[in-house]
Order: sequence, then C-alpha cells, then structure tokens
Amino acid sequence: MKRAAITIGMVFATLALAGCKQDMDEQPKLLPLSGAAAFDKGQAARPLPEGTVARNEAVDPAEAMAAPTVDAALVQRGRERYEIFCSPCHGFSGYGDGMIVKRGFPAPPSFHSERLRQTPASHVVDVIANGYGVMYSYGDRVAPRDRWAIAAYVRALQLSQAGEPQPEAMP
Ligand code: HEC
Repeated sequence: MKRAAITIGMVFATLALAGCKQDMDEQPKLLPLSGAAAFDKGQAARPLPEGTVARNEAVDPAEAMAAPTVDAALVQRGRERYEIFCSPCHGFSGYGDGMIVKRGFPAPPSFHSERLRQTPASHVVDVIANGYGVMYSYGDRVAPRDRWAIAAYVRALQLSQAGEPQPEAMP
C-alpha cells in the first residue's frame, strides 16, 4: 500500500516537473520558414484558406454592396437577424416601437412611411454598415451578406403592411 502511494506520488511529481518545462518556446513546432516533410512541397508555412481576410483588412466595398439573389432562405435568415439586431428598436413589425424605444431610446422612423417604402434596399444595407443619425453602425456585428438578408426581410415587412384588406376575397 505504502509503496503504491510513493509510486503515485513520484508519478505526480514527475508530471508536475514536466508541466513546468512545457513552455511554448520549447515545445515541438514548425517555424514559418522551416521545412516540414509531412506537407506538400515540404513547406511548414501553409497557404491561406480561400476567403481569408486579415483582421485589419477592409472588406471590399464592391463585394459588400453586391446584392445576392433573393430567395426564401435569404428572407428567413434576414428575419432571424432582424429579430436579433433590429427589433429591439424598430419593433417586430417595423413600426419603430421596439422595447428599447418603450424604455426611452429615440424612436426610429416607421419602415412603413412612404419615404422608406420607396427607398432602395441598398439604403438599409448602408444604414446597417455605417449607421444613420443617432443609430450607430452594426457593421461589426452584421456580415455583408446578412445586411442584404435583413434588407430583404425589411422589404417583406413593408409589403406585409402595404396591402389593402380585401374582405370579399376571404372564404
Ligand atoms: C438601438 C436602437 C436601434 C437599433 C437596434 C437599430 N436601429 Fe435603425 N434606427 C434607430 C434610430 C433611432 C433611427 C433614426 C435615426 C435618426 O434619424 O437620427 C434609425 C433609423 C434606421 C433607418 C432609417 C434611415 C432613414 O433613412 O431614415 C433604417 C433603414 C434602419 N434604422 C435600419 C436598421 C436595421 C436594419 C437594424 C438592424 C440591423 C437597425 N436599424 C437597428 C435605432 C435603432
């Protein structure tokens, strides 16, 4: 019993010491310009995966403004993102009566005003990216494609409120 306890103690002591020596300078690793037999062409440096963007690299403005094809999946995605990021102020239906406004934040205009109904979808994309008046930018939280998805959903909200009731068409 006693021997077993000593052996276990020694194992822990060895592990603890080994732990102390495990600093990052000493661990096995591949340096950027060194060779590595395991990889293609023997290079340790790996090619960047396609679409990699450096942290400080601006997103290509032309790409950010290019409108994707609108389909049901895009509108669904837009609804989800809208309800997360925009509904707290703009309200679930876009009347500018969200919870934050009820608690005192300046009220945004309704998306159902004539002016905002006429405005192109790219205006919504631009407001998300750059902010507008007292509304701060959502550029760092909403990716370019999602900006278009939200703009498509805002348009769907506008259409949902623009129709005339047609009682005679009801069953
Ligand atoms: C914290 C509250 C808040 C949130 C969240 C918010 N907005 Fe706004 N938004 C405002 C306010 C306030 C204004 C009016 C700003 C002004 O006129 O100074 C506004 C204005 C707008 C306008 C109208 C610009 C115009 O031409 O009058 C659009 C479009 C818009 N927001 C879209 C969005 C979208 C899309 C989101 C979600 C990504 C969003 N907003 C999230 C508060 C908010």
